[in-house]
Amino acid sequence: MAKTSTTYECTACGARFPRPMGKCGACGGFGTIEEVRGGLRKDLVRARSAFSESGFQHPVPLMEVPVSDQDRRPTGLRELDRVLGGGVVPGMVVLLGGEPGIGKSTLVLQWAAACGGTVLYASGEESERQIKLRAQRLGAEAPGIHLFAETDVRRILEAAEAMKPALLLVDSIQTLFDPEFESAAGSVSQVRGCATLLARWAKASGTPLVLVGHVTKDGTLAGPKVLEHLVDTVLAFEGDRHHHHRLLRALKNRFGAAFELGVFAMTGHGLEPVDGNPFFLEAEPSPGCAATVCAVAERRGGIQLHDRDVYLNVAGGLEIEDPAADLAVLAALASSALGRLLAPKTLFLGEVGLTGEVRPVAQLPLRLQEGARLGFDQAAVPRMGLEPGLRAPLKLIAETSLERMRGKPWLLGRAEADAGRASD
Ligand code: TYD
Ligand code: MG
Repeated sequence: MAKTSTTYECTACGARFPRPMGKCGACGGFGTIEEVRGGLRKDLVRARSAFSESGFQHPVPLMEVPVSDQDRRPTGLRELDRVLGGGVVPGMVVLLGGEPGIGKSTLVLQWAAACGGTVLYASGEESERQIKLRAQRLGAEAPGIHLFAETDVRRILEAAEAMKPALLLVDSIQTLFDPEFESAAGSVSQVRGCATLLARWAKASGTPLVLVGHVTKDGTLAGPKVLEHLVDTVLAFEGDRHHHHRLLRALKNRFGAAFELGVFAMTGHGLEPVDGNPFFLEAEPSPGCAATVCAVAERRGGIQLHDRDVYLNVAGGLEIEDPAADLAVLAALASSALGRLLAPKTLFLGEVGLTGEVRPVAQLPLRLQEGARLGFDQAAVPRMGLEPGLRAPLKLIAETSLERMRGKPWLLGRAEADAGRASD
């Protein structure tokens, strides 16, 4: 690779090209190519290989690598700990992504307050005074928190080196720049360069690092898809700004299970963990594809729907792509069409095919565990793929098809149904 020639880089995917282009040859983005002078800096190249946390400078037998989970420290925020896999470990680098206004800064400030130790909170988004006012409102004015309204990554690293905080927060990675690198703050090269320097420092010093990252409307981290492989854990903070609930999920976690979900409510005094989860107990989860499903419902489920309009709503403004929600949609449809209530505290988990077969879903044992935790008593699940001898934490109604599910005890009495009819 040429060391100092001018190259062109896609701000969306990070692909590099020798000449300018209107359309990125790698990701197909239009108008995303920017000029980058100076090529890749040598220290960034070195930084990629400087990630040994145990201080080994040479190959080491797997059996001799020391590990202990005692190093894991709870953050003090229960739902966050669930998603992180019990807390943070030294040198852990977390990317917290979410749309503007979803509550990322609120979450990191509460994290800082719950941490207990010295925290360096570097913000390129808000002034010290703005953060102070928010901390007052949240009751998050811990004595260990130090604010630094700075966007120069080198100055943040100097401050961190001097302070040796127990936690380093950077809000947001897109506002940072490295003066030794020529492209603009927010460009892929800057975001990647700054994140690499910070991550390298976090690993070397054993300091947990949280990078806040903005997500664009289409759900990708603005530019830095390139960051996802650079960090240990990618957390996505989601929800509808017009609703209270916020979901925190681990999209990637080198130090714990992905698929964990934390639920918060955004209140007047910040984010509160949601317990027992009445929100989901009331909800009938649904995917977006009702028309296909309805045809199956008529033919295989014995529900007459041709004379009806169907409206599906997922509580809390959430969007669900998970095919496991198919069965819940059918249950909701059946309940509505037949005017009968669904059995209370019943979960519906299954993908439904066009012939009415109920197909296995990913992570069934985990989902059942989560359902039991939330207070569900029974679950309608696919029989296909069910592990023999699975010790389920709740009662299972396992069937292979919709036709077989029809006679099962998940549709209840008529009292309320009659009330429903009367209002038709
Ligand atoms: P914020 O953390 O600034 O979002 P982000 O950093 O992701 O852009 O918070 C966004 C919204 O949360 C803000 O519009 C107001 C609301 N909010 C509350 O409802 N209660 C609170 O206590 C706080 C601090 C914010
Ligand atoms: Mg913010």
